Amino acid sequence: MKAVGFKRYLPIDNEESFLDVELPTPEAAGRDLLVSVKAIAVNPVDTKVRRSKDIEENPPRVIGYDASGVVESVGSDVTLFNVGDEVFYAGDLTRSGSNSEYQLVDERIVGHKPKSLSFAESAALPLTSITAYEAFFDRLSIDPLGANKGESVLIIGAGGGVGSIGIQLAKKAGLVVIATASRPESAAWVRELGADHVINHKEPMVEQVKAAGFNCVDHIAIFNDMRHWETCVELIKPQGGIVTIDNTDADMPMAAMKTKCASLHWEFMFARSMFQTDDMIEQHNLLNYVSAQIDAGSLRTTLSEAISPINAANLRKAHALVERGDALGKVVLSDW
Ligand SMILES: NC(=O)c1ccc[n+]([C@@H]2O[C@H](COP(=O)([O-])OP(=O)(O)OC[C@H]3O[C@@H](n4cnc5c(N)ncnc54)[C@H](OP(=O)(O)O)[C@@H]3O)[C@@H](O)[C@H]2O)c1
Repeated sequence: MKAVGFKRYLPIDNEESFLDVELPTPEAAGRDLLVSVKAIAVNPVDTKVRRSKDIEENPPRVIGYDASGVVESVGSDVTLFNVGDEVFYAGDLTRSGSNSEYQLVDERIVGHKPKSLSFAESAALPLTSITAYEAFFDRLSIDPLGANKGESVLIIGAGGGVGSIGIQLAKKAGLVVIATASRPESAAWVRELGADHVINHKEPMVEQVKAAGFNCVDHIAIFNDMRHWETCVELIKPQGGIVTIDNTDADMPMAAMKTKCASLHWEFMFARSMFQTDDMIEQHNLLNYVSAQIDAGSLRTTLSEAISPINAANLRKAHALVERGDALGKVVLSDW
């Protein structure tokens, strides 16, 4: 099968940072589906995995954590899908990725692709939807069906991949969304996705949140950068919750969290597949929820840039875009 992989961990402007390669087509067993990949999206995690290190991969390493495609064959224990089903998923960080014509993926982390979207439009969604859904509804325990209606959520980094679907999921749950965006185009993008208030994460945020009419906020989702931590602690309502998806080695002062009796939650969308948790199938369920909401017209794709075909040159282009750190929504590649 065709695949895009790499042997050495190189800067993205190096022609060998991605290579067009031929690899054996894998075979499905157990709960795995073999998916014929039609479209993929690039996330910051792809660029982090590719970061410079002094080792050589042989055979070439294939990464990629968002895909849509068609089930080509199924393992003997598969119960949720049939050959020919159209699917979308974000895969598993510990396995070979989606930058290949065929990929094995456990059925419990796969959803039915939205019928109303193309493969490219669908591939934009899985990783970021899982992240935002788990952050709001599994970690912060917000009710997706509206029991928290009218409560406020501050979404930091709202124009990015996670924020773009996060705004929509939060609005659907009835929350009042304060979104951060630092440029006119990202501010316009988050407004179009449903943000009620927009503030600039490059300016002092406490004053802006107060000027928007909030003394503090009920929930905070740090969907970008933990350097905003102290601001978030200042803004969180007593007994409120903050969820973060960012890595951090930085100091995180906690004293004010205790005084406010506030909680901190970590979200890592690969945790369920990495640790094979008993509730891994929740990712199948939540992707199906997103798919149904898309088909019902209450959520939309976050695709903003489409590139074709899937090959090393175009994947280098897509990684360079994501590495810039100012993406609006998602960069997608489709067709081989
Ligand atoms: N834990 C997990 O499971 C998980 C899952 C997905 C992503 N992540 C991580 O979460 C981060 C965001 O992912 P993503 O896919 O949304 O990224 P992305 O699409 O690359 O995010 C781009 C957006 O980030 C905003 N931004 C840039 N610098 C910022 C800053 N200092 N503060 C706030 N916003 C800033 C930009 O807004 P402006 O242009 O308006 O400045 C831009 O719209 C990445 O580090 C990613 O690795 C973690």
